[in-house]
Amino acid sequence: MKTKIIRTSRAPWDSNWKADSLLIYDRYLLKVPGFRGWLKRFPASYGVKAGEELKDISAFPGHLSRISRLTSEMASRRMTILVAGGGSVGDFGGFVASIYKRGVRLVHLPTTWLAAIDSSHGGKTALNVEGAKNQIGTFYPASEVYLVKPFLMAQPPERAVEATGEALKMMILKGSAFFPPRIFTKDPSEALWTALPKLIQGKMSIVEKDPTETSGFRHLLNLGHTMGHVFEAELKMPHGLSVTYGLIFALIYSRSRRDCSEKDLAAIFSHPAWRMFLPSALHLRSLSIPPSRIRTLLLKDKKRTSRQLLRFIFVRKMGKPFIREIGVDEILDEVARQKRLLKVVYG
Ligand SMILES: NC(=O)c1ccc[n+]([C@@H]2O[C@H](COP(=O)([O-])OP(=O)(O)OC[C@H]3O[C@@H](n4cnc5c(N)ncnc54)[C@H](O)[C@@H]3O)[C@@H](O)[C@H]2O)c1
Ligand SMILES: [Zn+2]
Repeated sequence: MKTKIIRTSRAPWDSNWKADSLLIYDRYLLKVPGFRGWLKRFPASYGVKAGEELKDISAFPGHLSRISRLTSEMASRRMTILVAGGGSVGDFGGFVASIYKRGVRLVHLPTTWLAAIDSSHGGKTALNVEGAKNQIGTFYPASEVYLVKPFLMAQPPERAVEATGEALKMMILKGSAFFPPRIFTKDPSEALWTALPKLIQGKMSIVEKDPTETSGFRHLLNLGHTMGHVFEAELKMPHGLSVTYGLIFALIYSRSRRDCSEKDLAAIFSHPAWRMFLPSALHLRSLSIPPSRIRTLLLKDKKRTSRQLLRFIFVRKMGKPFIREIGVDEILDEVARQKRLLKVVYG
């Protein structure tokens, strides 16, 4: 089943939702103008607190019992679960929809940029087990994803700056048309809103070739995430920002291995969005994490293929990424090299 993506400037309504529907929503959204009124139209709703605790398996039976009580009168064949929130609520609500009554119709309404660009598409749902992220899950694509402008625009502007890293990732993976520089004359939120359909199309074109992550092709979506996850875990930097510095690392690494020419690297860095991130003291700080710590965090990463080897995504040029297995020591050597380089650049 193909997911329908609907971009709208107001909270949507479908007469099918009048009966047999449950809205699972991030309670934060009660602060967003218009949300409370919209919520009241649903026959049942379930508010949750966003975050990793929501995804914890130990709390799941309690959630499921409450959801079951709220929907006891509903006809399972016609039931729809709508999920409004960021990635954590989407992962949780998507998982509920995939197993409740052996699977009911799922509709996503992502309200963070990360969820709108990334997590609400591609069908991955997830729960955490004893602190380990995404250990349990299903592949369960939504039948519809609604991108609701007022919900997304309720986020502070810095969230859009952070999420721009994921947009740059898609541009590098799929080519410049997926995040054209010309849209970047507006503010970052408007730029993302304009680019959303292309960014989603970019993700889906990769997912469709490997929907259940079996061939390894879908792994390309992790461009920038190998080092990005190290920065996120160690510096508590937001995900999107960590990915941006992870991307910069992967691009410069591709150049130092001669996989990417100076000209092709310059073409990628010519996008005006990079100016929001460079030059930055954070960039130098990200590479100043002690090597032993980077090693530990890299080896914890699930992209590890054997004891000391990782699947790393390099770039030949815009739209031409590729995957190579690489030793952790080689990555650490490159970290040291880039750090020396940065000290010269930033002083
Ligand atoms: N399933 C996938 O393919 C996939 C992909 C990437 C990430 N993820 C998961 O997504 C999660 C991270 O996503 P996230 O950052 O969206 O998480 P989140 O759901 O925790 O949201 C982050 C914060 O934004 C707030 N928020 C939500 N909507 C808002 C709005 N409109 N305005 C202001 N604040 C708002 C939330 O209350 C929360 O405090 C992680 O759990 C990660 O594992 C899943
Ligand atoms: Zn990401």
